[in-house]
Amino acid sequence: MSAARPDRRVVVVTRRLPAAVEEGLAREFDARLNADDHPFSKSELENALRTADGLLPTVTDRLTAQVLAVEPLRVRVIANYGVGFNHIDAAAAKGRGVVVTNTPDVLTDDTADDAIMLMLMVARRGGEGERHVRSGAWTGWRPTHMLGTRVSGKTLGLVGLGRIGRAVAHRARHGFGMRVIFHDPYPPPAAVVAELGAEPRSSVDDVLREADFVSLHSPATPETRHLIDARRLALMKRGAFLINNARGDIVDETALAAALTQGTIAGAGLDVFEREPAVTPDLLAMENVVLLPHLGSATEETRVAMGLRALDNLRAFFVGAPPRDRVA
Ligand code: DGY
Repeated sequence: MSAARPDRRVVVVTRRLPAAVEEGLAREFDARLNADDHPFSKSELENALRTADGLLPTVTDRLTAQVLAVEPLRVRVIANYGVGFNHIDAAAAKGRGVVVTNTPDVLTDDTADDAIMLMLMVARRGGEGERHVRSGAWTGWRPTHMLGTRVSGKTLGLVGLGRIGRAVAHRARHGFGMRVIFHDPYPPPAAVVAELGAEPRSSVDDVLREADFVSLHSPATPETRHLIDARRLALMKRGAFLINNARGDIVDETALAAALTQGTIAGAGLDVFEREPAVTPDLLAMENVVLLPHLGSATEETRVAMGLRALDNLRAFFVGAPPRDRVA
Protein backbone atom coordinates (compact mmCIF):
# COMPACT_ATOMS: atom_id res chain seq x y z
CA MET A 1 0.00 0.00 0.00
CA SER A 2 1.39 3.44 -0.90
CA ALA A 3 1.70 6.19 1.70
CA ALA A 4 -1.26 8.57 1.73
CA ARG A 5 -0.59 11.85 -0.07
CA PRO A 6 -3.07 14.67 0.20
CA ASP A 7 -2.85 15.54 -3.52
CA ARG A 8 -3.79 12.06 -4.62
CA ARG A 9 -7.26 10.58 -5.02
CA VAL A 10 -8.09 7.75 -2.68
CA VAL A 11 -9.17 4.60 -4.52
CA VAL A 12 -10.29 1.53 -2.60
CA VAL A 13 -9.63 -1.74 -4.45
CA THR A 14 -11.76 -4.54 -3.05
CA ARG A 15 -9.74 -7.60 -4.16
CA ARG A 16 -6.14 -8.50 -5.05
CA LEU A 17 -5.48 -7.67 -8.70
CA PRO A 18 -2.57 -8.77 -10.93
CA ALA A 19 0.68 -7.08 -9.81
CA ALA A 20 0.96 -4.85 -12.90
CA VAL A 21 -2.50 -3.45 -12.18
CA GLU A 22 -1.91 -2.86 -8.48
CA GLU A 23 1.38 -1.15 -9.32
CA GLY A 24 -0.35 1.10 -11.87
CA LEU A 25 -3.08 2.00 -9.39
CA ALA A 26 -0.54 2.75 -6.66
CA ARG A 27 1.47 4.97 -9.05
CA GLU A 28 -1.50 7.13 -9.93
CA PHE A 29 -3.65 7.08 -6.83
CA ASP A 30 -3.59 6.68 -3.11
CA ALA A 31 -4.65 3.09 -3.71
CA ARG A 32 -5.98 1.18 -0.70
CA LEU A 33 -5.26 -2.41 -1.69
CA ASN A 34 -6.70 -5.56 -0.15
CA ALA A 35 -3.50 -7.33 0.89
CA ASP A 36 -5.15 -10.52 2.18
CA ASP A 37 -7.77 -10.65 -0.61
CA HIS A 38 -10.67 -11.17 1.78
CA PRO A 39 -14.17 -10.52 0.39
CA PHE A 40 -15.41 -7.13 1.60
CA SER A 41 -18.26 -7.10 4.09
CA LYS A 42 -21.19 -4.72 3.73
CA SER A 43 -19.70 -2.42 6.34
CA GLU A 44 -16.32 -2.38 4.59
CA LEU A 45 -18.05 -1.38 1.35
CA GLU A 46 -19.97 1.34 3.16
CA ASN A 47 -16.78 2.55 4.78
CA ALA A 48 -15.06 2.70 1.38
CA LEU A 49 -17.96 4.73 -0.04
CA ARG A 50 -17.59 7.18 2.86
CA THR A 51 -13.82 7.52 2.80
CA ALA A 52 -12.59 7.10 -0.80
CA ASP A 53 -12.94 9.14 -4.00
CA GLY A 54 -13.13 6.06 -6.18
CA LEU A 55 -14.04 2.42 -5.69
CA LEU A 56 -12.76 -0.49 -7.76
CA PRO A 57 -15.07 -3.42 -6.93
CA THR A 58 -15.61 -6.85 -8.47
CA VAL A 59 -18.55 -9.15 -9.02
CA THR A 60 -18.48 -10.35 -5.39
CA ASP A 61 -19.24 -6.87 -3.99
CA ARG A 62 -22.97 -6.22 -3.68
CA LEU A 63 -23.41 -2.49 -4.10
CA THR A 64 -27.13 -2.36 -3.43
CA ALA A 65 -29.27 0.77 -3.13
CA GLN A 66 -29.05 0.35 0.64
CA VAL A 67 -25.25 0.27 0.60
CA LEU A 68 -25.13 3.20 -1.80
CA ALA A 69 -27.36 5.21 0.56
CA VAL A 70 -24.45 5.76 3.00
CA GLU A 71 -23.90 9.17 4.48
CA PRO A 72 -21.75 11.03 3.96
CA LEU A 73 -21.01 9.66 0.48
CA ARG A 74 -17.56 10.59 -0.78
CA VAL A 75 -17.04 8.18 -3.69
CA ARG A 76 -17.71 9.79 -7.09
CA VAL A 77 -16.83 6.90 -9.37
CA ILE A 78 -17.21 3.12 -9.24
CA ALA A 79 -14.85 1.51 -11.75
CA ASN A 80 -16.06 -2.07 -11.83
CA TYR A 81 -13.52 -4.79 -12.61
CA GLY A 82 -15.64 -6.83 -15.02
CA VAL A 83 -18.09 -6.37 -17.83
CA GLY A 84 -21.18 -7.54 -15.94
CA PHE A 85 -22.34 -5.02 -13.36
CA ASN A 86 -25.58 -6.54 -12.06
CA HIS A 87 -24.07 -6.54 -8.55
CA ILE A 88 -24.19 -2.73 -8.63
CA ASP A 89 -27.51 -0.91 -8.42
CA ALA A 90 -26.63 1.40 -11.30
CA ALA A 91 -29.83 3.44 -10.96
CA ALA A 92 -29.14 4.05 -7.27
CA ALA A 93 -25.54 5.03 -8.07
CA LYS A 94 -26.74 7.43 -10.75
CA GLY A 95 -29.30 8.84 -8.35
CA ARG A 96 -26.46 9.66 -5.97
CA GLY A 97 -24.37 11.23 -8.71
CA VAL A 98 -21.87 8.36 -8.80
CA VAL A 99 -20.47 7.39 -12.21
CA VAL A 100 -20.21 3.64 -12.91
CA THR A 101 -17.88 2.07 -15.48
CA ASN A 102 -17.14 -1.52 -16.54
CA THR A 103 -14.48 -3.36 -18.58
CA PRO A 104 -15.97 -4.60 -21.87
CA ASP A 105 -14.09 -5.89 -24.95
CA VAL A 106 -10.92 -7.07 -23.21
CA LEU A 107 -12.52 -10.25 -21.88
CA THR A 108 -14.62 -11.16 -24.92
CA ASP A 109 -12.29 -13.75 -26.46
CA ASP A 110 -11.42 -15.55 -23.24
CA THR A 111 -15.04 -15.69 -22.14
CA ALA A 112 -16.05 -17.08 -25.54
CA ASP A 113 -13.26 -19.68 -25.25
CA ASP A 114 -14.62 -20.65 -21.85
CA ALA A 115 -18.11 -21.23 -23.30
CA ILE A 116 -16.63 -23.45 -26.02
CA MET A 117 -14.60 -25.30 -23.38
CA LEU A 118 -17.77 -25.99 -21.38
CA MET A 119 -19.55 -27.22 -24.50
CA LEU A 120 -16.73 -29.60 -25.42
CA MET A 121 -16.20 -30.78 -21.86
CA VAL A 122 -19.82 -31.66 -21.26
CA ALA A 123 -20.48 -33.16 -24.70
CA ARG A 124 -17.29 -35.21 -24.80
CA ARG A 125 -17.42 -36.06 -21.09
CA GLY A 126 -14.13 -34.30 -20.35
CA GLY A 127 -14.68 -33.72 -16.63
CA GLU A 128 -16.01 -37.21 -16.11
CA GLY A 129 -13.12 -38.75 -18.06
CA GLU A 130 -10.57 -36.85 -16.05
CA ARG A 131 -12.11 -38.01 -12.79
CA HIS A 132 -12.13 -41.56 -14.17
CA VAL A 133 -8.39 -41.56 -14.93
CA ARG A 134 -7.40 -39.85 -11.70
CA SER A 135 -9.44 -42.29 -9.62
CA GLY A 136 -7.51 -45.22 -11.10
CA ALA A 137 -10.72 -46.75 -12.51
CA TRP A 138 -9.55 -46.71 -16.17
CA THR A 139 -8.90 -50.23 -17.46
CA GLY A 140 -7.88 -49.25 -21.01
CA TRP A 141 -9.26 -48.31 -24.43
CA ARG A 142 -12.37 -50.05 -25.64
CA PRO A 143 -14.83 -49.18 -28.42
CA THR A 144 -17.81 -48.62 -26.17
CA HIS A 145 -16.11 -46.72 -23.40
CA MET A 146 -17.39 -43.31 -22.33
CA LEU A 147 -19.06 -42.32 -25.57
CA GLY A 148 -20.08 -38.70 -25.77
CA THR A 149 -21.96 -36.50 -28.21
CA ARG A 150 -20.46 -34.95 -31.36
CA VAL A 151 -20.19 -31.18 -31.33
CA SER A 152 -19.04 -30.51 -34.91
CA GLY A 153 -21.84 -29.78 -37.34
CA LYS A 154 -24.53 -29.51 -34.66
CA THR A 155 -26.86 -26.57 -34.05
CA LEU A 156 -25.78 -24.01 -31.45
CA GLY A 157 -28.53 -21.77 -30.07
CA LEU A 158 -27.33 -18.50 -28.58
CA VAL A 159 -29.48 -16.55 -26.18
CA GLY A 160 -27.95 -13.10 -26.62
CA LEU A 161 -25.76 -11.99 -29.51
CA GLY A 162 -23.72 -9.23 -27.87
CA ARG A 163 -19.93 -9.15 -28.00
CA ILE A 164 -19.41 -12.49 -26.25
CA GLY A 165 -22.28 -14.23 -28.05
CA ARG A 166 -20.81 -13.11 -31.38
CA ALA A 167 -17.35 -14.39 -30.44
CA VAL A 168 -18.88 -17.76 -29.52
CA ALA A 169 -20.80 -17.81 -32.83
CA HIS A 170 -17.60 -17.16 -34.75
CA ARG A 171 -15.73 -19.98 -33.03
CA ALA A 172 -18.63 -22.41 -33.35
CA ARG A 173 -19.17 -21.74 -37.03
CA HIS A 174 -15.59 -21.51 -38.20
CA GLY A 175 -14.01 -23.91 -35.73
CA PHE A 176 -16.68 -26.58 -35.53
CA GLY A 177 -18.82 -26.05 -38.63
CA MET A 178 -21.86 -25.54 -36.43
CA ARG A 179 -25.09 -23.99 -37.56
CA VAL A 180 -25.73 -20.99 -35.32
CA ILE A 181 -29.20 -19.72 -34.43
CA PHE A 182 -29.91 -16.97 -31.93
CA HIS A 183 -32.43 -14.75 -30.24
CA ASP A 184 -31.60 -11.30 -28.96
CA PRO A 185 -34.19 -8.62 -28.20
CA TYR A 186 -31.56 -6.06 -29.23
CA PRO A 187 -29.81 -7.82 -32.12
CA PRO A 188 -26.69 -6.42 -33.76
CA PRO A 189 -27.01 -4.82 -37.21
CA ALA A 190 -28.15 -7.18 -40.00
CA ALA A 191 -24.74 -6.93 -41.71
CA VAL A 192 -23.00 -8.21 -38.54
CA VAL A 193 -25.46 -11.09 -38.25
CA ALA A 194 -25.02 -11.94 -41.95
CA GLU A 195 -21.24 -11.91 -41.67
CA LEU A 196 -21.44 -14.29 -38.72
CA GLY A 197 -23.75 -16.54 -40.68
CA ALA A 198 -26.09 -16.65 -37.68
CA GLU A 199 -29.82 -17.18 -38.15
CA PRO A 200 -32.25 -15.14 -36.04
CA ARG A 201 -35.18 -16.72 -34.27
CA SER A 202 -38.12 -14.68 -33.06
CA SER A 203 -38.08 -15.99 -29.48
CA VAL A 204 -35.94 -17.73 -26.89
CA ASP A 205 -38.44 -20.60 -27.05
CA ASP A 206 -37.74 -21.11 -30.76
CA VAL A 207 -34.01 -21.27 -30.09
CA LEU A 208 -34.52 -23.83 -27.31
CA ARG A 209 -36.72 -26.09 -29.45
CA GLU A 210 -34.19 -26.28 -32.27
CA ALA A 211 -30.72 -26.22 -30.70
CA ASP A 212 -28.47 -29.15 -29.77
CA PHE A 213 -26.46 -26.81 -27.54
CA VAL A 214 -27.91 -23.69 -25.92
CA SER A 215 -25.42 -21.11 -24.71
CA LEU A 216 -26.49 -18.12 -22.63
CA HIS A 217 -24.96 -14.70 -23.28
CA SER A 218 -27.52 -12.26 -21.89
CA PRO A 219 -26.83 -9.67 -19.23
CA ALA A 220 -28.37 -10.30 -15.81
CA THR A 221 -31.33 -7.96 -15.51
CA PRO A 222 -34.72 -8.25 -13.82
CA GLU A 223 -36.06 -9.38 -17.24
CA THR A 224 -33.52 -12.20 -17.64
CA ARG A 225 -33.78 -13.55 -14.08
CA HIS A 226 -34.82 -17.22 -14.39
CA LEU A 227 -35.17 -16.78 -18.14
CA ILE A 228 -34.36 -20.47 -18.30
CA ASP A 229 -36.96 -22.01 -16.03
CA ALA A 230 -38.73 -25.38 -15.87
CA ARG A 231 -41.07 -24.50 -18.76
CA ARG A 232 -38.24 -23.47 -21.04
CA LEU A 233 -36.02 -26.41 -20.08
CA ALA A 234 -38.90 -28.68 -21.12
CA LEU A 235 -38.81 -27.12 -24.60
CA MET A 236 -35.22 -28.24 -25.16
CA LYS A 237 -34.40 -31.45 -26.99
CA ARG A 238 -33.83 -34.44 -24.72
CA GLY A 239 -30.31 -34.79 -26.08
CA ALA A 240 -29.48 -31.08 -25.75
CA PHE A 241 -26.97 -29.39 -23.45
CA LEU A 242 -27.24 -26.06 -21.63
CA ILE A 243 -24.15 -23.87 -21.31
CA ASN A 244 -24.03 -20.86 -18.99
CA ASN A 245 -21.04 -18.62 -18.40
CA ALA A 246 -23.03 -15.37 -18.29
CA ARG A 247 -24.69 -15.00 -14.90
CA GLY A 248 -26.10 -17.63 -12.56
CA ASP A 249 -29.50 -16.13 -11.96
CA ILE A 250 -30.45 -16.33 -15.65
CA VAL A 251 -31.09 -20.01 -14.89
CA ASP A 252 -33.46 -21.34 -12.24
CA GLU A 253 -30.85 -23.70 -10.78
CA THR A 254 -33.40 -25.80 -8.88
CA ALA A 255 -35.39 -26.31 -12.08
CA LEU A 256 -32.18 -27.18 -13.93
CA ALA A 257 -31.22 -29.80 -11.35
CA ALA A 258 -34.71 -31.31 -11.65
CA ALA A 259 -34.54 -31.31 -15.46
CA LEU A 260 -31.18 -33.08 -15.35
CA THR A 261 -32.43 -35.63 -12.82
CA GLN A 262 -35.49 -36.37 -14.96
CA GLY A 263 -33.51 -36.58 -18.22
CA THR A 264 -35.34 -33.59 -19.72
CA ILE A 265 -31.98 -32.48 -21.16
CA ALA A 266 -28.70 -34.34 -21.59
CA GLY A 267 -26.33 -32.18 -19.57
CA ALA A 268 -25.10 -28.76 -18.59
CA GLY A 269 -21.85 -26.82 -18.52
CA LEU A 270 -21.89 -24.12 -15.86
CA ASP A 271 -19.30 -21.48 -15.02
CA VAL A 272 -21.67 -19.32 -12.97
CA PHE A 273 -24.25 -20.09 -10.28
CA GLU A 274 -27.34 -18.57 -8.80
CA ARG A 275 -25.94 -18.33 -5.27
CA GLU A 276 -22.20 -18.23 -5.98
CA PRO A 277 -20.03 -19.70 -4.57
CA ALA A 278 -22.74 -22.11 -3.38
CA VAL A 279 -23.84 -24.71 -5.92
CA THR A 280 -27.15 -26.59 -5.80
CA PRO A 281 -26.02 -29.83 -4.06
CA ASP A 282 -27.71 -32.18 -6.56
CA LEU A 283 -25.57 -30.74 -9.38
CA LEU A 284 -22.38 -31.68 -7.53
CA ALA A 285 -23.23 -35.36 -7.79
CA MET A 286 -24.09 -35.41 -11.51
CA GLU A 287 -21.55 -36.76 -14.00
CA ASN A 288 -23.29 -35.06 -16.94
CA VAL A 289 -22.70 -31.59 -15.50
CA VAL A 290 -19.45 -29.64 -15.81
CA LEU A 291 -18.92 -27.12 -13.03
CA LEU A 292 -16.27 -24.40 -13.24
CA PRO A 293 -15.58 -21.67 -10.65
CA HIS A 294 -16.50 -18.54 -12.70
CA LEU A 295 -13.40 -18.77 -14.92
CA GLY A 296 -14.74 -16.96 -18.01
CA SER A 297 -12.19 -14.15 -18.02
CA ALA A 298 -9.57 -15.95 -15.93
CA THR A 299 -6.40 -15.68 -17.98
CA GLU A 300 -3.32 -13.75 -16.98
CA GLU A 301 -3.66 -11.61 -20.10
CA THR A 302 -7.29 -10.71 -19.63
CA ARG A 303 -7.18 -10.09 -15.89
CA VAL A 304 -4.34 -7.60 -16.47
CA ALA A 305 -6.24 -5.99 -19.36
CA MET A 306 -9.39 -5.69 -17.24
CA GLY A 307 -7.44 -3.94 -14.50
CA LEU A 308 -5.76 -1.55 -16.90
CA ARG A 309 -9.13 -0.77 -18.42
CA ALA A 310 -10.57 0.02 -14.98
CA LEU A 311 -7.49 2.17 -14.32
CA ASP A 312 -8.11 4.04 -17.62
CA ASN A 313 -11.68 4.70 -16.54
CA LEU A 314 -10.58 6.05 -13.15
CA ARG A 315 -7.86 8.20 -14.71
CA ALA A 316 -10.29 9.69 -17.23
CA PHE A 317 -12.88 10.40 -14.57
CA PHE A 318 -10.44 12.15 -12.27
CA VAL A 319 -9.00 14.37 -15.02
CA GLY A 320 -12.55 15.40 -15.91
CA ALA A 321 -12.76 13.47 -19.20
CA PRO A 322 -15.64 11.12 -20.06
CA PRO A 323 -14.63 7.58 -18.99
CA ARG A 324 -14.64 5.28 -22.00
CA ASP A 325 -16.81 2.62 -20.41
CA ARG A 326 -19.43 4.58 -18.55
CA VAL A 327 -22.56 2.51 -17.90
CA ALA A 328 -24.30 4.82 -15.41
C1 DGY B 1 -17.43 -10.22 -15.82
O1 DGY B 1 -16.57 -9.53 -16.33
O2 DGY B 1 -18.62 -9.93 -15.88
C2 DGY B 1 -16.98 -11.45 -15.10
O3 DGY B 1 -18.02 -12.35 -14.96
C3 DGY B 1 -16.40 -11.09 -13.75
O4 DGY B 1 -17.23 -10.18 -13.14
